[in-house]
Amino acid sequence: MQGKRVLLIVGGGISAYKNLELVRRLKERGVSVRTILTKGGAEFVTPLSLSVLSEGKVFTDLFDLKDEAEIGHIRLSREAELIVVAPTTADLLAKMAHGLADDLATAVLLATDKRVLVAPAMNVRMWQHVATRRNVARLREDGIAFVGPNEGEMACGEYGPGRMAEPGEIIDAIATLLGARAVPLAGRRVLITSGPTQEPIDPVRYIANRSSGKQGHALARAAAALGAGVTLVSGPVAIADPEGVHVVKVETAHEMLAAVLDALPADIAICAAAVADWRAADEAIHKLKKQNQGGETILKLAQNPDILATVAGLGANRPRLVIGFAAETENLIANATAKHRAKGADWMVANDVWPGTGAMGGDHTQVHLVTPAGVEDWPPMSKYEMAARLLARASEALQTLRSAAE
Ligand code: C5P
Repeated sequence: MQGKRVLLIVGGGISAYKNLELVRRLKERGVSVRTILTKGGAEFVTPLSLSVLSEGKVFTDLFDLKDEAEIGHIRLSREAELIVVAPTTADLLAKMAHGLADDLATAVLLATDKRVLVAPAMNVRMWQHVATRRNVARLREDGIAFVGPNEGEMACGEYGPGRMAEPGEIIDAIATLLGARAVPLAGRRVLITSGPTQEPIDPVRYIANRSSGKQGHALARAAAALGAGVTLVSGPVAIADPEGVHVVKVETAHEMLAAVLDALPADIAICAAAVADWRAADEAIHKLKKQNQGGETILKLAQNPDILATVAGLGANRPRLVIGFAAETENLIANATAKHRAKGADWMVANDVWPGTGAMGGDHTQVHLVTPAGVEDWPPMSKYEMAARLLARASEALQTLRSAAE
């Protein structure tokens, strides 16, 4: 990305502060960043902080005659290779969809012939409103690129899609649009399992667990960002399908196993799903009835197939790199190391899911990577960053395996 030129438009939203990290990381990669701060954006970050990080003037006002004389809004757009709008509010999306131009940011967006990347961030109801859906559909038709929004807890206390994509994801999207993305997994196939499984007890009840699918879905996005052809086999989750990924939806462990075997061959398999260990031994055709007041009922369970162990134990069809996850609430490393051996996986990612860690269902994680060479302690990071780091390592390992085979 060295020497590339990005014009960053900072909209008004609580996530505007994330742009300080975005700008810093773009500068580290040698990207020259010019910034326009909207009136709303200036409520959340100061022109001074953006100016220090971007090492340049921050543009704020369409009618600043000095700027118009020195560097007009047309020039701002002309000199950029890509325009990034982050956060993109519902208001900015609406203005862009209708071609309004009542401030510097929207005037530049209307005047530009460059690619535009938007990172929407808004309350979940605003994102889901029919007017916003219409604006988004129109902008996609117009060729505007989107990154996010992500699902999660919002600053307003609600939950759902509407959180701005993380700086790492925005940088990946920028690199792709600038044609500066390294695609070390181009031509490779990556198979990922994600989410929980649901094992029916009767037509209305099932056995499941608290897995959100966030980690598995982040892995799928990170693999696609490195150019891989990705199949994501997912149990029932409440989060959106990742873009550019083939998603196969399943409910039970048996369905997941069948879908996984169907998706082979693959170069890398990552089993991040929280597969239910047991299913009801006999699924009832009709809803089970309470037998007597306060009495016990015994539910007979049968063990589910172990998908990771099955994939790792395949002969010719075994992916060259098989990675499992060990979510533990105690004796993390010892349990993960034992699973590494028992399941025949090449690598195991151990993560502590003790309720106090917030890893289960949360956006952050702290893991240890167990490989035949030993155990690496990784620092706390977002699930996407962890995914990107793991996939980068996996792609290096594939190359080493290939060179060794040649
Ligand atoms: O549940 P457990 O701790 O054994 O899970 C460890 C790893 O095994 C995870 O990668 C999980 O996706 C995988 N697994 C599986 N099929 C199962 C149980 C676990 O693929 N039935």
